[in-house]
Amino acid sequence: MYTVPKLKSYTAAALDKAVEKLRAALSEEAKAVESEADRKVFRDRWMARKNGVLTQINDLWLKPSPKEAKREVGRRVNEIRTLVEDVVSKAENFQLHLSTGRSIKESADRLDITLPGIRRPLGAEHPVIKTMHEIVSVFRNLGYSVQEGPVIETDYYNFEALNFPPNHPARDSQDTLFIAGQESKPQRERLLLRTHTSPVQIRTMQKMKPPVRIVIPGKVHRNDPPDASHSPMFHQVEGLAVDTNITFCDLKGTLDHAMKSLFGSSVKTSFRPSFFPFTEPSAEMMVSCFICGGSGKRGTELCRPCKQTGWIEILGCGMVDPNVYGFVDYDPRKVSGFAFGMGADRIAILKYGVDDIQFFFNGDVRFLEQFA
Ligand code: DAH
Repeated sequence: MYTVPKLKSYTAAALDKAVEKLRAALSEEAKAVESEADRKVFRDRWMARKNGVLTQINDLWLKPSPKEAKREVGRRVNEIRTLVEDVVSKAENFQLHLSTGRSIKESADRLDITLPGIRRPLGAEHPVIKTMHEIVSVFRNLGYSVQEGPVIETDYYNFEALNFPPNHPARDSQDTLFIAGQESKPQRERLLLRTHTSPVQIRTMQKMKPPVRIVIPGKVHRNDPPDASHSPMFHQVEGLAVDTNITFCDLKGTLDHAMKSLFGSSVKTSFRPSFFPFTEPSAEMMVSCFICGGSGKRGTELCRPCKQTGWIEILGCGMVDPNVYGFVDYDPRKVSGFAFGMGADRIAILKYGVDDIQFFFNGDVRFLEQFA
C-alpha cells in the first residue's frame, strides 16, 4: 500500500517522480473499488481531512518545502487535489468500470465493439406467401412479369368485363361480398371484395398491348363460412398470356411444365372440360396425386388428399374468350391467349400436408414457426 514519502529533493525531476508514483497508486486503488464499502474506504484514504493522502502531501510536501520551491510544489499539490477529487467523485458516481477506470455511466456512453451483438429474431415468410412466391417464380423463369390490382374492386372488373353479364347466373358461383351502401351508383361502378384475381387480367390488358405474359398473385374474398377447407379470405395466383397464334397446346405445355416445377418432375397433368364465362373453351386441370403417386392408396390406407382418385384438382384455365378482348380493345382476329387461376392456400395445404386452412390465418405462432 502506498505511503506518502517525505521529499528529500525539490528539483523538478524529483517532484515529477514523486507525483508519478502517487498517480499510479491512485489509479491502482481506484480499480480495486468494487462495492459501496470499498468506495467509502477509498474516499477516506485519499480525502479525509485527518490523515488522508491529500492532507499528508500538504503536510509532508508543501509545508516543509523551501521558499524557492513553494510555488512549484503548490502547483503540483493542487493538480493532485483536482485529480483525486475527480477520481473519487467518479467512484462516487457509481462503481468504477473495473478495467477502464471509467464510471459505469461513462462507459455506457461509449461503444464497445467487442461485446456480442443483440440478436433480433427475424420474421419468416408465411407458408401461403412462400407458396405464392414459388408459383410466381416458376412463371418468372418463363418470362412472365408480375401484376397486382385492388382487393376492393368494381362490379365492372370483377364481372362485366370478364363476360359475366349483369344478372347472369354465373355470378352466383362467386359468393360475392358486396360493399354496403352502393345502391345509388350504376351497377358497374358498385364496389365489392374481388372474388378472384381475374379482374387484373382486364386492368392489365387495358394498359398493355400484346404480347402479354403476366402472373397475378393476390388476396380474394368470398362469402364462405370458415371450415377446414374454406376461408372467407384466401389467395390466388392468376396467369394470362396473349400473343399471336397462342393455342391450347401452349396452355397445356406451360401448365404441365409449371406443375412439374412445383410438385416434382414425375407428376402428370390432365385436363377436363369446364365452364368459366371469360374462357372458351375452359378446363379444370388435375395433377396426379404427388402424395400417393396416383395410386389412390398409401400403403394399406386410402389416400385422403386425392380422395382415392389419384388426381388432385389444382386450377381452372382456358383460352381467353373473344368477348373479353372486346372490353380491352384487343382484336380477336389477330390475337389469342390463355388464362389460368389457382388457389395458393390449397396448394400450400397439399404441399405441406396441413389438414385445416384455418391454421394459416388464426395466427398461432406454434404452427407458423414450423415453416420458418
Ligand atoms: N377466376 C376463377 C375462379 O376464381 C379461376 C379461373 C378459371 C381463372 C379460369 C382463370 C381461368 O384465369 O382462365 O373461380
